[in-house]
Amino acid sequence: MSIKGNFLWGSATAAYQCEGGWDEDGKGLNEWDVFNHESSLNINNEDGDVASDFYHRYKEDIDLMAEGNQNTYRFSISWARIIPRGVGEVNPKGIEYYNNVINYCLEKGITPNVTLFHYDLPNEMAKIGGWENRNVVDAFNQYAKVCFENFGDRVKIWSTINEPRYYAYCSYVVGNYPPNYKADFGRFWNVLYNLMLGSAKAVESYKELGLKGIIGVVHDNGNVELDPDTKEKELVKLRADIFYNRMVLDTAVFGKMPAELNKVLKDNNVDASFIYEEDIPYFEKGKIDYIGLNLYNRQYVTDYSEGETEIFHNNKGKGSKSKEGIRIKDLFETSFDPDVRRNLWGREVYPKCMYNALKEINAKYGDILVYVTENGCGQYETPDENGYVKDTERIEICSEFIDYMLQAREEGVNVQGYYMWSSMDLYSWINGYEKRYGIVRVDFKNNNRRIPKESYYWYKALIAAKRGI
Ligand code: BG6
Repeated sequence: MSIKGNFLWGSATAAYQCEGGWDEDGKGLNEWDVFNHESSLNINNEDGDVASDFYHRYKEDIDLMAEGNQNTYRFSISWARIIPRGVGEVNPKGIEYYNNVINYCLEKGITPNVTLFHYDLPNEMAKIGGWENRNVVDAFNQYAKVCFENFGDRVKIWSTINEPRYYAYCSYVVGNYPPNYKADFGRFWNVLYNLMLGSAKAVESYKELGLKGIIGVVHDNGNVELDPDTKEKELVKLRADIFYNRMVLDTAVFGKMPAELNKVLKDNNVDASFIYEEDIPYFEKGKIDYIGLNLYNRQYVTDYSEGETEIFHNNKGKGSKSKEGIRIKDLFETSFDPDVRRNLWGREVYPKCMYNALKEINAKYGDILVYVTENGCGQYETPDENGYVKDTERIEICSEFIDYMLQAREEGVNVQGYYMWSSMDLYSWINGYEKRYGIVRVDFKNNNRRIPKESYYWYKALIAAKRGI
């Protein structure tokens, strides 16, 4: 099937994971710089100081995208590069750098899709409590305005926040992202709420400027599926869906939080005092234009009413049998589907969830525009003597995901773009540099040399066929 018209085919990265240049040209420290330099919880002893060195090699990477027939690139801006202390003075060198990246994309026929916050909170903001502190919400809005004013004439696709739910979950429930709180559901919901408020305020600021473009939020994991043995089916589905999806998507699309949120907070033993009535108009005015969907797997869940909260996290690729998931007292637990294959990180490899997620989004939110802002496959890889990687499994898995996306599109879902995660190998938040997602290999030990993988050439041919070029 060939898709003509405006469908976007590209790839994605995030600032901390690929840029490096951690202390160059006036950039301030962010929370990940400090965590990776100082914390004993940095299990890999690796950091993003150099990363893929995109800060210096962006032209080479964007050239590869263009040669690979990609017509869009999703990347994030480092808040601390633009405003080193999070609030206050703007760093002209930071503005200059992103102007260069954006202009080079446009020169190469690549539409930039820019995310404002992809986990790298300025350290000065982390010091005052991070997203728990409502002052950070307003600081984010100020930073967003600086970006819109400086880049909004050329950037036409924006997203406010990457995966608010997953970020809050890793930082305050799993505890593997700074500030490393474990099973702190009070903080989790508070931070998620503040992230959604920050997103809504930034959307409103964008609209007020009257710029000609669209703005959305990037959300992870589309669909909750129930283990058929679940006893309280409706209740478990409701709780898990609000927890994983609806707190983000209902709030961003409808401009108000799910009506059943209070019930779920109560079941989760969380006091709702972080919700303020005065915020209601901001949510209403901050409705998004599109949904960015990062899709890797589904949430397969069942009842959990009797035990304590437990978290299972396989962060080292320990094997497909090791557990990955959660049991949340009085809410639900992750279930294990014996019929679905798992990767070394214990995560399901279930491409059909792409179709299910898109159809469910369509059923809940109607004709809203969707871009698949991330999809990909993380692996340990061994190159041949020339540095070439034959990543046939990645190709097989991603083609299935793409086929399911196109099937949903055929059936009327308004999905208009797809981004492979990731454009090149980069830093993985919890696995350092060995778990690779790139379609271009980065030889981290050899001057960060770029070597396109088999998947790069496969993706190039696929795009050519789909775009009819
Ligand atoms: C997404 C994030 O959740 O997953 C990316 O937006 C991340 O930043 C990607 O790299 C893969 O995650 P992981 O944990 O498998 O490296």
